Amino acid sequence: MRTDVIVVAAGSGQRAGEGLPKQYRSLGGVPVLRRTLAGFIGQPGIRNVLPVISPGHAELCDAALAGLDGVLAPVAGGATRQASVRAGLEALAQDPPELVLIHDAARPFVSARLVAEAIAMASAQGAAVPALALVDTIKAVAAPGFLATGPDRNALRGVQTPQAFRYAMIAAAHRAQAGADDLTDDAAVAEAAGHRVAAFAGDPANIKLTTPEDFVTAERRLLAGLA
Ligand code: CTP
Ligand code: MG
Repeated sequence: MRTDVIVVAAGSGQRAGEGLPKQYRSLGGVPVLRRTLAGFIGQPGIRNVLPVISPGHAELCDAALAGLDGVLAPVAGGATRQASVRAGLEALAQDPPELVLIHDAARPFVSARLVAEAIAMASAQGAAVPALALVDTIKAVAAPGFLATGPDRNALRGVQTPQAFRYAMIAAAHRAQAGADDLTDDAAVAEAAGHRVAAFAGDPANIKLTTPEDFVTAERRLLAGLA
C-alpha cells in the first residue's frame, strides 16, 4: 500500500536541557532529525517522508537537512504534538497515501524491521503500534510521597513510534479530536474515535531522546557500534 511518513519535529525540547532544540543537536556527528528521517528514506514501501517543524526553526532545519534527498519540504507544526501531527496529515491530503506512519523526530534509532512491521500490521489491522513489556514494577501514588500496589505489569505495555494507520481513518480521527486536550500519541486519537489499535513488537533500541542522560546513552550506543 502507498505509504507516507510524518516525522513530528516541532517541539521545543524543554526536558533535554540547554542549547539547541534536541532534534537539531548532533548525535555521533549527525543532527538527530537527519538521522531519524534517514531511517525511513528508501525503505521498502515508503513513498514520501514529511518533516513537521517549528516555523522558528526553519534555518536550523535547512542546515540539518542540507543535501538530504527524498524528503518533502517541511510544513509548520502547532503548539502541541497533536496539532503538529494534524498539520502533517492535512499537508498530505492533496495526494493522500493509503497508509501513514507517524514518528517522533526524537527517536533516531528506528529500524528497518520496525518500519516493515508497522506497514504490514497496519495493512492488515488498520492501526498498529510498537509496544514493549515493562521491566520496572509499577506503583500507584497513594498520597504525596507514598505509594500503593499498582496495576499488574503484565497487563501494561510501553508504546513507541512509528505508529501506523490507514490514512483516511487517522486523518478523520485527528480532525474530530482537534478541539480536545492534548493526547500524547496517535493511538489515543484513534481509540477516541472508536478504532481498535493492534500491537507489534517494539525495539528497546528505539529510545526517545527526552533528557540530557538520553543523549549520553545514545552517544555510547553509537560508539559501541550498537546503532
Ligand atoms: N512535537 C511536535 N510539536 C509539538 C510538540 C512536540 O512536533 N508542539 C514533537 C517533538 O519535536 C518530538 C515528538 O513530538 O519529536 C515527541 O515529543 P517530546 O519528546 O515531548 O518533545 P518535546 O515536546 O520537544 O520535548 P519536551 O516535552 O521535553 O519539551
Ligand atoms: Mg513534549
